[in-house]
Amino acid sequence: MDSPHSTRSLSATSFYLFILLSSNLITLFISTTFYSSCSFNPTQTRATINTADTTTSELPPEFIAFTTPKELPFGINSNFDSNEIYPPVGSPCTLFPDELNRYMSYEVNGSCPDDELLAQKLLLKGCEPLPRRRCHPAAPPEYVEPYPIPESFWSTPSDSSVVWTAYTCKNYLCLINRKRDQRGFDDCKDCFDLGGREKTRWTESNNRGGIDFGIDEVLEVKKNGTIRIGLDIGGGVATFAVRMRERNITIITTSMNLNGPFNSFIASRGVIPMYISISQRLPFFDNTLDIVHSMHVLSNWIPTTLLHFLLFDIYRVLRPGGLFWLDHFFCVGEQLEDVYTPLLESIGFNKVKWVVGKKLDRGPELRELYLSALLEKPLTNSW
Ligand SMILES: *[C@@H]1O[C@H](CO)[C@@H](O)[C@H](O)[C@H]1NC(C)=O
Ligand SMILES: *[C@@H]1O[C@H](CO)[C@@H](O)[C@H](O)[C@H]1NC(C)=O
Ligand SMILES: *[C@@H]1O[C@H](CO)[C@@H](O)[C@H](O)[C@H]1NC(C)=O
Repeated sequence: MDSPHSTRSLSATSFYLFILLSSNLITLFISTTFYSSCSFNPTQTRATINTADTTTSELPPEFIAFTTPKELPFGINSNFDSNEIYPPVGSPCTLFPDELNRYMSYEVNGSCPDDELLAQKLLLKGCEPLPRRRCHPAAPPEYVEPYPIPESFWSTPSDSSVVWTAYTCKNYLCLINRKRDQRGFDDCKDCFDLGGREKTRWTESNNRGGIDFGIDEVLEVKKNGTIRIGLDIGGGVATFAVRMRERNITIITTSMNLNGPFNSFIASRGVIPMYISISQRLPFFDNTLDIVHSMHVLSNWIPTTLLHFLLFDIYRVLRPGGLFWLDHFFCVGEQLEDVYTPLLESIGFNKVKWVVGKKLDRGPELRELYLSALLEKPLTNSW
């Protein structure tokens, strides 16, 4: 699973980081450490930039205003073990100065640019978390409030609850019909049709033994009521969270907005969307969640070392006895045996269910496989 490449690319990355740090950021931080802590003035936050240093001088003033260390007003804080805070952004942000410049160019206290697509690309490339901005985000001119619960769970929200700029479709009807009307691939192409496939996902219990586990079949592995809180990674339109909510289980759904307003839609349904990519450390404490689910997302498109870190992160946030439902993981032929089975087995989960099936939607000649697995973090000695 760890190829010889990973060592090389790691040292290359460290080297690059070193270059970056020593050439730019150190200069930047040193030159701005001497800023008075009382200098708040949103219209006047230009940091002194070393103009001899081209990369630094290309960084937008608002980015510098956000990221430079901030002195704590009451001095050293023993919780922080410091007298200053460095507001976080993804370390690769500065590798994309052009996008960063566009993203951070706005009038403080004005309107943010309507730039969801740019922001998402920047984030997906690794500038995650994105820097905070001091402007008002694009919003629908005439927002329509959501349906009340439980009607909201299975109703298509108003088109006026979404800013459509970033998407090919400009209304929900278009998203519902795109499975039929639109050629080409789109992530979760048929998901917005709540009357279609979403209606029956994870409900069928007549599929026992197959790769489509039912929610109740999974829950019955544990004592009734002990699966209460969890996470769905890359959860589409959050039908999983809605189904769990109907069982009084609280699920947070991570999603990007890949050519569709996934986050807005999830929120309109009345469950919680979380806008983080699969690269980001899960924002939960160790040993806390009862269940982590992920369907169709964790697959062979993810660089193997990144997947290895991700699997350990899932293990970390699950409580002992917590369940990891890896739903329709896909890969090709011998990859399963050569790469992914050893990788999954190496993390330390107990196998509760493990079912492999053929993935035929793109044709049998591609020899694609699905794995659905139910894994449990050991209740004792999980450390
Ligand atoms: C910031 O913008 C808001 C709303 O647009 C406005 O009411 C307020 O006066 C502005 N504040 C400053 C300091 O300009
Ligand atoms: C689980 O507990 C709930 C609430 O106490 C109850 O309504 C439900 O029937 C129980 N389910 C099973 C499978 O025992
Ligand atoms: C969910 O919780 C509510 C309120 O506590 C309760 O009335 C209801 O029976 C529960 N539903 C299930 C499926 O456990």
